[in-house]
Amino acid sequence: MNSIWIAPSILSADFARLGEEVDAVLAAGADLIHVDVMDNHYVPNLTMGPFVCQALRDYGLQAPLDVHLMIEPVDNIIPAFAKAGANYISFHPEASKHVDRTLQLIIDHGCKAGLALNPATPLSILDYVIDKLDYILLMSVNPGFSGQQFIPSILKKVAAVHQRIIESGRAIRLEVDGGVKADNIGALAKAGADMFVTGSAVFDSSDYTATIAQLRAAIAKSVGT
Ligand code: DX5
Ligand code: ZN
Repeated sequence: MNSIWIAPSILSADFARLGEEVDAVLAAGADLIHVDVMDNHYVPNLTMGPFVCQALRDYGLQAPLDVHLMIEPVDNIIPAFAKAGANYISFHPEASKHVDRTLQLIIDHGCKAGLALNPATPLSILDYVIDKLDYILLMSVNPGFSGQQFIPSILKKVAAVHQRIIESGRAIRLEVDGGVKADNIGALAKAGADMFVTGSAVFDSSDYTATIAQLRAAIAKSVGT
């Protein structure tokens, strides 16, 4: 089994104190920082662009940046995110006219390439591109906002994607994003997820260290490590 990565989403952080917030979640045991990029077009919300990644790098952030693009179109802004310090870049296939080309663009810019699938997006999109993927992001809410309710049917989808990853023979990470909490993270890990976005669960808690420890304990209990 892969090591488990916890990726707090700064969408739920206090933006007025972003650098300190990122320091705090990393000190609390987070592995990477999830950046939710929204354009009020592909999703009904507007958040942040490459400047925020650059600002965090200039501030001294060393940890990997996991950039989740919920924007349309995607291709034109990928080089700017790579330049601003992104390490992982995922996008939604519905937002790209040429999915294979967008994946190649991410790879050519030296980043890990991910495909983000909405709750209703079928897995057939993986059929011909899985060889280019470093990770698959499964949305367990509809994209656009933090603090939404986890959609339970995603558990089956995680298991199905995990099976496809095994069949591919490739070291592809399986990330789950949306409504991840201590009461569902164990089952998600058991189904094969190994990378967890946590927005409100961590940033709305009063003790980031205790919350991340609780998430890891729930995983350990469920997968028996
Ligand atoms: C939703 C975003 C998520 C979200 C997670 O569109 O992709 O990353 O911020 O927040 P929680 O964990 O609160 O659902
Ligand atoms: Zn996200």
